[in-house]
Amino acid sequence: MQASVTPRHPLARLTADEIDVARQIITAGGLVTDSTRFAYLGLAEPSKDEVLAYTPGTPIDRRVRAVLLDVATGAAHVVIASLTKGTVEQVEPIDTRTQGQPAIMDDDLITVDEIVKSDPEWVAAMAKRGLTDLDKIRPCPLSPGEFGFPGEEGRRLLRVLSFVQNRPEDHPWAHPVDGVVAYVDLIERKVVKLIDHRVLPVPQREHNHDDPAYTGPPRTTLKPLDIVQPEGPSFTVDGDEISWDHWRLRIGFDAREGLVLYQIRYVDNGRERPIIYRASVGEMVVPYGDPSPTRFWQSYFDIGEYLIGQQVNSLELGCDCLGEIYYFDAVLPTTRGEPRVVKNAICLHEEDFGVLWKHTDIFTGSSEVRRQRRLVVSYFATIGNYDYGFYWYFYLDGTIQLEVKATGVIFTAPHIPGNPYASQITDEIAGPFHQHLYNVRLDMMVDGLTNAVEEIDAVRVRTGPGNEYGNAFTRSVTRLRRESEAVRDAHPGASRVWKIINPNSRNAVGQPVGYALIPQGGPLLLADEGSSVRRRGAFATHHLWVTRYHPDERYPAGEFINANPGGAGLPAYVAQDRSIDGEDIVVWHTFGITHFPRPEDWPVMPVDCCGFTLKPIGFFDRNPALDLPAVTSTHCRPGHHGSGHAGHEHGRHDGGHAHAGPEHGGHEHGGHEHGGHEHSGHEHS
Ligand code: CU
Repeated sequence: MQASVTPRHPLARLTADEIDVARQIITAGGLVTDSTRFAYLGLAEPSKDEVLAYTPGTPIDRRVRAVLLDVATGAAHVVIASLTKGTVEQVEPIDTRTQGQPAIMDDDLITVDEIVKSDPEWVAAMAKRGLTDLDKIRPCPLSPGEFGFPGEEGRRLLRVLSFVQNRPEDHPWAHPVDGVVAYVDLIERKVVKLIDHRVLPVPQREHNHDDPAYTGPPRTTLKPLDIVQPEGPSFTVDGDEISWDHWRLRIGFDAREGLVLYQIRYVDNGRERPIIYRASVGEMVVPYGDPSPTRFWQSYFDIGEYLIGQQVNSLELGCDCLGEIYYFDAVLPTTRGEPRVVKNAICLHEEDFGVLWKHTDIFTGSSEVRRQRRLVVSYFATIGNYDYGFYWYFYLDGTIQLEVKATGVIFTAPHIPGNPYASQITDEIAGPFHQHLYNVRLDMMVDGLTNAVEEIDAVRVRTGPGNEYGNAFTRSVTRLRRESEAVRDAHPGASRVWKIINPNSRNAVGQPVGYALIPQGGPLLLADEGSSVRRRGAFATHHLWVTRYHPDERYPAGEFINANPGGAGLPAYVAQDRSIDGEDIVVWHTFGITHFPRPEDWPVMPVDCCGFTLKPIGFFDRNPALDLPAVTSTHCRPGHHGSGHAGHEHGRHDGGHAHAGPEHGGHEHGGHEHGGHEHSGHEHS
């Protein structure tokens, strides 16, 4: 039972065949019964040394890692199997009392529905609220958090809030049933506790964003806008490897982390220079700020608890992505360990991004402009009410960005006048305050493995000797030498950045080459000291963490975050206080949005964006985009935009027809230049 196809690269994504073989090997090892579920199955990545030393043709030991859960007993195991050798290599039990639980599975939605609807007390609580047609009630499988409540230790629990769906087309989020929550044990298959705190009216009005009777007729003001690349896109794809302009990278897709980018490199004058070995959003948490007895526990770790990769959308050309698109399918395991294919899961395309550089010279008359472009690698996942888009951008000038787009439907509650923890959205509905906090794990490799981090702040200089007129300002550069020194917060007022340098690689002016992490610096986790979510989501209490690389240190909040009491992940990693100065290091960055829902977020929310930027600082010896050709569009002619001297000179050259005709006139250029792309650039720069 060995995998039939030899993988093309040690980091190649698991194929459907390989998932099949993995299940067969694990089953043959006696580890699978009727009640066994694959709570996770993914590639066990080979060590970094092995990957970096790999040359095509080298034999690869292909391994998978699985988390198995017996839904009859609650027993859980981590299993490592070799597809190459056809053997199970490791089986380790998970102590669910101390370590936490395997992630919530898609099957749990159905299980929870069956359990609460057969519980007489829950049915009575619904009846008390006038809800007697159980077929219209939609219980949600919500992660329980961990509060040390007696009797909950080691249990596989969900806490269940419900919504009403009037008919199949009606979106239930508009009809929250509040004041009652069921605590459900998924293994014993029963409600272990019902909290019936308060009878609140269930909001009745329907707000269906896909119903023309509700939204009104579509507006007719917009003409078609298409992206045309007559010669095709500028990227090429070979298996999981992407080449675009000077960029090289490899994609992965994990059931838990979703999109993973490997070996991000920039070809600089023919030399392939590594920047990041591995980049992924390792965890996120959505903590709610409503302390009511039925909601205080709400905090969803959508990656570790809900496996965001498993919830990936299948995208549609022209709707989700515009232009010349390349789609990668995702191959994921079902809870039975079978492969399933999500078509068009990962989107790859390039976008115009306005002006990259421009100068009109008053002395030489030269007028030059070059346009910016970016390569976009993205996917969308839906987790219950919310939809999240993860967009990685690579720019012609060496900049890298991640933008996370939150959209979908807010988690609702009935409006209670005077509630300081929610905003009123409609006459009946409120949106409880909450945050969306993400942690990106950046396994850095700037020009090699020996990296270090400097914190750079803008600082004022006091008036005095050497600064007699008080105009001076400078910057402070602090090297973060140990893990304990590198737990840091953003300081937007000082333009604080964290520069990842390679002390062993120098640029033309003799300085270590570097890439700066530019944070947006929003609020960190707002829950108070001593709160459960602060222990469990400690990663979200600081913007920056830096660790010495260790292959097992993958998850910001630990591996089994579901029901985990806290302390796992980053706090445990940095407690080792290793040196991070000139070492192989991993940079972990927390960013996010604090969401006070607006009426405009209803009934479906315009995307709310957040992210960060990685910008070369002394990585290149000069502007790396000098060699861009001047003309990148048939609409643009050199000198056409010129003003002053340059305009005159080129005006003669172009002749009168340059400005003629509405299709090629200045207005159209103005539209391009100041269009959506440029505007969005401002928003997240
Ligand atoms: Cu939100």
